[in-house]
Amino acid sequence: MKSLFNKSILFVFGLSAVSCVDNSKPNYQYMPNMYETVSYEPYGEYDIFENGQEAKLPAEGSVPRGWKPYDYEDSNEGYAAAKAELENPLPYTEDNLAAGRQLYTIYCAVCHGDSGDGQGILVEREKFLGVPSYDSRDITEGSTYHVQYHGLNAMGSYASQTSIEERWQITHYVMSLREELLGNPEREFEDEMETLTPSVDTENDITEGTVSGGGSEQENQNEE
Ligand code: HEC
Repeated sequence: MKSLFNKSILFVFGLSAVSCVDNSKPNYQYMPNMYETVSYEPYGEYDIFENGQEAKLPAEGSVPRGWKPYDYEDSNEGYAAAKAELENPLPYTEDNLAAGRQLYTIYCAVCHGDSGDGQGILVEREKFLGVPSYDSRDITEGSTYHVQYHGLNAMGSYASQTSIEERWQITHYVMSLREELLGNPEREFEDEMETLTPSVDTENDITEGTVSGGGSEQENQNEE
């Protein structure tokens, strides 16, 4: 009799222990710090980190995906060499020109003007002076790319805002504006397929991701 009584007590105990489990709520946690990490602000200062800052610098020598070194120095010699040697690796297609136009409007038109005559809004309001009209200078595709990369005197560098591909698209558009200012006939569009011919070495000049892949990879190949 006694053992039956004991058993039923045990049974009631067991039942009350499991009957109230609510699986929709988190269970008890012992030492929750082991589960819930302390949240740090991305740019906050904390002694716990080596340089006192939560955000870490990239490991030394690391490069963004798709990044390619640019071999021409920020000097008169580098400028002259780029001007003479560099050619646009992108085909002159309607798409590339349209993309170049859009980027030009975002980054360049405030100074250089929509038509490239050097009369952008900042010049009109006399905030910025000495902006040349594209037809007044002997520029080439190479020099146009070079000044976007390194800047030139009062003009800043656009290397951190634009990707390799974007700078070449802008270059196409700048050259087309220049031709228009000079009154030359419009350049004919090329076929996308022409990039596959050996005359344009897309393999070496530009990473695959930038020309054909597109998408998320593109974003990362900025410089600096
Ligand atoms: C803040 C104003 C400003 C903006 C924005 C700007 N530029 Fe310039 N740009 C200048 C000035 C000033 C010069 C003249 C620099 C010099 O020769 O000292 C110049 C010169 C140039 C030249 C002629 C360089 C040469 O070889 O003589 C080109 C090409 C050019 N810019 C392209 C661009 C492109 C492409 C963009 C957009 C990505 C851009 N600029 C954005 C101010 C600007």
